[in-house]
Amino acid sequence: SEEETKAAGGKLIMVTNAEFPPYEYHEGGEIVGIDADIARAIADELGMELEIEDIAFDSIIPELTSGKADFAMAGMTVDEKRKQSVDFSDTYAKASQRIIVKSDSAIATPDDLKGKVVGVQQGTTGDLYVSDLEADNTTVERYNKGFEAVQALSQGKIDAVVIDGEPAKVFVEQTDGLKILDEAFTDEEYAAAVKKGNTELLDKINGALKNLKESGKLDEIVAKYISA
Ligand code: ARG
Repeated sequence: SEEETKAAGGKLIMVTNAEFPPYEYHEGGEIVGIDADIARAIADELGMELEIEDIAFDSIIPELTSGKADFAMAGMTVDEKRKQSVDFSDTYAKASQRIIVKSDSAIATPDDLKGKVVGVQQGTTGDLYVSDLEADNTTVERYNKGFEAVQALSQGKIDAVVIDGEPAKVFVEQTDGLKILDEAFTDEEYAAAVKKGNTELLDKINGALKNLKESGKLDEIVAKYISA
């Protein structure tokens, strides 16, 4: 049976931070989203069982390096600094950091963030890049969850939020009086991550990703969560 095959193939533990729709979020007691579905499809390709663990975003890399989890899929941006501790798979999505402001805000471009109070999710690339503006008197407010930053903006506690484009769209849709600026703050790409040096698993993930890309399954998963 399929179950027996999976038991023989072993188990993969995937870590994520399920506060990031449409890539990973909670729905009906389950973790769903593009990354969750891709991870399940990868495990299926490999004939392995999948367990998804939901942890703080900035605990994901330590969880990989300590060997507690096998791989991460968390809308994680391929980043040179992170490559010191993890290896990234082939990329599976293009992304960008976007700026959310109040509908009537005077902030119109990334440059206008200088000297402002900007909210980010702790440990994300949004955090890294906005922190570069601290030299220009920008104040960075770091939140555990991206949506908490959006709520703080909506309550007038901060001037802007920098977060990935797709969750930005979801959060702005759920909140009155906010808009996303046209100009992206950065362009990025998402990949799965494994502990540095785990080439055996990395090769397997890349092989599975290739099959999912070629069969159209990957596009199918994305289309289920993002309307073109
Ligand atoms: N792409 C950004 C990064 O890699 C944000 C990812 C946040 N992901 C999440 N599941 N909360 O830093």
